[in-house]
Amino acid sequence: MTSLKDKSILLIISGGIAAYKSLELIRLIRKSGGHVRCILTKGGAQFVTPLSIAALSEENVYDDLWSLKDETEMGHIRLSREADLIVVAPASANIIAQMAQGLTPDLATTTLLASDKPVLIAPAMNHKMWDHPATQANLATLKDRGVLSVGPDEGDMACGEHGMGRMSEPEAIFEAISDFFFKRPLKGLTALVTSGPTHEPLDPVRFIGNRSSGKQGHAIAAALAQAGAHVTLISGPVNQSAPAGVNLIKVQTAAQMLSACENALPADIAVCAAAVADWAPEQASTQKLKKREDESAPTIALKQNPDILKTLSNHKNRPQMVIGFAAETENLLENAAAKRTRKGCDWILANDVGTDGKTFGADENHVYLVSANGQDDWGLTSKTEIARKLTAQITGYFTDHEHKHAAE
Ligand code: PMT
Repeated sequence: MTSLKDKSILLIISGGIAAYKSLELIRLIRKSGGHVRCILTKGGAQFVTPLSIAALSEENVYDDLWSLKDETEMGHIRLSREADLIVVAPASANIIAQMAQGLTPDLATTTLLASDKPVLIAPAMNHKMWDHPATQANLATLKDRGVLSVGPDEGDMACGEHGMGRMSEPEAIFEAISDFFFKRPLKGLTALVTSGPTHEPLDPVRFIGNRSSGKQGHAIAAALAQAGAHVTLISGPVNQSAPAGVNLIKVQTAAQMLSACENALPADIAVCAAAVADWAPEQASTQKLKKREDESAPTIALKQNPDILKTLSNHKNRPQMVIGFAAETENLLENAAAKRTRKGCDWILANDVGTDGKTFGADENHVYLVSANGQDDWGLTSKTEIARKLTAQITGYFTDHEHKHAAE
């Protein structure tokens, strides 16, 4: 059995007959030397008692957001922050939906929303609920945010039906927990990822920007974090939430993005997925620019923004692996290869963004990996899959090459 000594797990037990298996999971974690604290939802308490959980975990059991005693002694923020990993087992269709929507009706969901820790869910529900498009959409949302999952399994259900939805056995969940801690190929490496657009102010209400949604950059940050890297995500203004376990730094302008990137050095890996504005107004007006009496349009003088990818590629603290994107509307591969050489990065992910900006904000992307060895067509696939593939390539690189320990 893998030792979980010094590992702290927050186990959330939500409503479902599979909650009885969570007692065995607590026993396994304790047996392996791990520390486990539990939150029991109202639904969970219909199936297992706080007393059995407390006896097995040798800890208080938390179940009430409004408990004055619990909030003063521990508090939901501390509950989440003191854990290395949050495990939701069983994860009912209801708690999965609440997590996806960011709802906080109770202590468990409030803790999950307030947390910046990695989360592993073990879904358990009737097979029709599992197959329902609403559940599948919620799971996809959680996956995009970097939430890990184990199971469910197929089999006979407590309701007498048969299908997919049985919670994984405690041993399998324990194995997923061990994998999280120990099978993380990028553990010990640091990564910085840029994402989203930059906004370059013209005046207090207007800016030069672009259509980047941050989906691609955020997915890469999530995948690198899942593989164990310590990730700093530097993002322009987007509506994406921060992936689990990632240190998010929000910026507006290219100058701020550059400075945040330089502050994140030394790092082993840099991935520049942000659509940085190439130009900014030379002078941003402190007051809103007014329409002119004579109806003439103002002439706006622009200045060149810093090139973040190029700066990182040529930095004295250059990350061992620097990866950029090339967003092109014509001659994709030719332009991408030239960009890779000009900027001095190792790899470029070339995407044809089309004259209609089709790639911006979309869930899918068609990229080519351009390196010194040529090009590899990854086909049209989801941005999450591209992030996973890129992480696998980076893992391969660090397996084949000596890691130069940027953080030392
Ligand atoms: O955010 P999404 O909606 O998911 O869309 C994803 C995406 C289309 C934005 C992404 O896949 C992408 O292509 N990102 C790079 C966009 C871009 O600015 O490409 P570029 O060819 O203009 O720049 C080349 C590289 O230099 C990029 O890595 C860019 O981050 C970097 N750059 C560019 C200008 C600048 N001043 N500094 C930079 O670091």
